[in-house]
Amino acid sequence: MSGIRAVSTTTPVGRQRATAGSDPAWSADPYADALHTGRGPLFLRRADGWLLPLDVERWCEEADATDLDVLRRCEGPVLDVGCGPGRMVAALGDRGHRALGIDVSEAAVAHTVGRGGQALLRSVFDPLPGSGRWGTALLMDGNVGIGGDPVALLHRLALLLAPGGLLIAETVPGPDVDERALVQVTDLHGPPGPAFPWARVGTPALLHHARTAHWRTDEEWSTNGRTFAALRPT
Ligand SMILES: C[S@@+](CC[C@H](N)C(=O)[O-])C[C@H]1O[C@@H](n2cnc3c(N)ncnc32)[C@H](O)[C@@H]1O
Repeated sequence: MSGIRAVSTTTPVGRQRATAGSDPAWSADPYADALHTGRGPLFLRRADGWLLPLDVERWCEEADATDLDVLRRCEGPVLDVGCGPGRMVAALGDRGHRALGIDVSEAAVAHTVGRGGQALLRSVFDPLPGSGRWGTALLMDGNVGIGGDPVALLHRLALLLAPGGLLIAETVPGPDVDERALVQVTDLHGPPGPAFPWARVGTPALLHHARTAHWRTDEEWSTNGRTFAALRPT
């Protein structure tokens, strides 16, 4: 994919400031600090106090067998949306794929670049290189929740993918889950980050939203307790 550059940041990892392209919700210290140490505990917290643990340790490790199952399905140049610390981008690069990570967290972008991957500090809703030409888009680790509106995210991804392109989305492994909420990133010690909209969807709900947004289902699978759907815009 031409026109894709790796972008590193000069902000010290661990004490991030929000800069252009970043989102203060994910640039807040709890997330940046967790990526810096490679460890949680880290959570998304709803206003009612409910906590969703974030698997920072796994995100900071190498791609595992379940991730490699996803990588084997990728086609053409790959856009990893919300790449976090970049395990998928790095593994794709190691296997000869052209891959770009995008993330609104400076710490995440810095980690991805540090792993030898290409990454941009950019929201999926910002102008992006290769628009309309990506072979595959990834929404790993529940990133179908980005923006808190799965249908809006699917409409955006349809513009980024090449005709007939592939979206691989990791869903919540619960058949009835379909929720939207304002959440904050917290480590339960320091101050939490600002509230932002997030969605959690199981595979049946994602397939329902996909039909609404004019996508068709290619495949559904589950590996080691993690659940995925592969979709194509029609
Ligand atoms: C649940 S974490 C997923 C971690 C990641 N997939 C990994 O492999 O480590 C969500 C990620 O999405 C990023 N994110 C949130 N909103 C975003 C947006 N609008 N555009 C791009 N990335 C976003 C966050 O900064 C965070 O790194």
